[in-house]
Amino acid sequence: MQLENKVAIVTGSSLGIGKAIAMAFGKEGASVTVDYRSHPDEAKEAVQEIEKVGARAISVQADVSKPEDIKSLIQKTVEEFGRLDIMVNNAGIEEKVPFLETPLELWEKVISVNLTGVWLCCQEAAKQMVSQGDGGRIINISSIHEEITMPTNAPYCAAKGGLKMLMRTIAVELAPHGITVNNIGPGAIETPINRNLKENPEQMKELLGEIPLGRIGQPEDVASLATFLASDAASYITGSTYFVDGGMMRQSGSL
Ligand code: BGC
Repeated sequence: MQLENKVAIVTGSSLGIGKAIAMAFGKEGASVTVDYRSHPDEAKEAVQEIEKVGARAISVQADVSKPEDIKSLIQKTVEEFGRLDIMVNNAGIEEKVPFLETPLELWEKVISVNLTGVWLCCQEAAKQMVSQGDGGRIINISSIHEEITMPTNAPYCAAKGGLKMLMRTIAVELAPHGITVNNIGPGAIETPINRNLKENPEQMKELLGEIPLGRIGQPEDVASLATFLASDAASYITGSTYFVDGGMMRQSGSL
């Protein structure tokens, strides 16, 4: 088992990519805190599923855009499991609105969860890891949109672009403490964040045309990389983004 005796927090892990990561970590022997904001029943189910594979798990409600929630998320994890080794910042939101019609409130909401929230989680998690004195792992779930555009989604793209330099900068600052920091950039993955795609076959067809490997990704495609980056085998890897996108970023469109 790759994560035996490790303790992990996965934000936004009642559903989607976060849940798949929490499950994968449990299967590899980690104790896991399932963080959720608005899906308590799904979070409880995730905990039960992790326990079924023989790992320990708790669920904690915390909104990543609230500093006091993040502090208590880490405190409760340490109270329950004794320490924190792996912080996965997965919670994120998006709402597509044309740039000229986007209200300031929407910009602020998306930035507060997808960028400021990750900054807060990184800082609180790193403080805990530094106090333990034996390193740690921070993994941010970013997006291919830290590099490529997505019209009608400027706040989301700006937040993901910000995550790139946040990760790179703190990777350098935290390296002397043995804490590695990396981003995973998923492409189109089948999760609740893009559930509208399923109801729109035309849009789905267009999207599949953009993916060289010819299929939409599954949350488990992302979870397998997260498990590796969280493991001891990845101890020399820090400061980069790894894309899980079926080749989407290399697609040259009509050329
Ligand atoms: C977005 C999805 C989108 C995918 C590929 C993700 O970051 O959350 O809505 O389908 O990127 O463009």
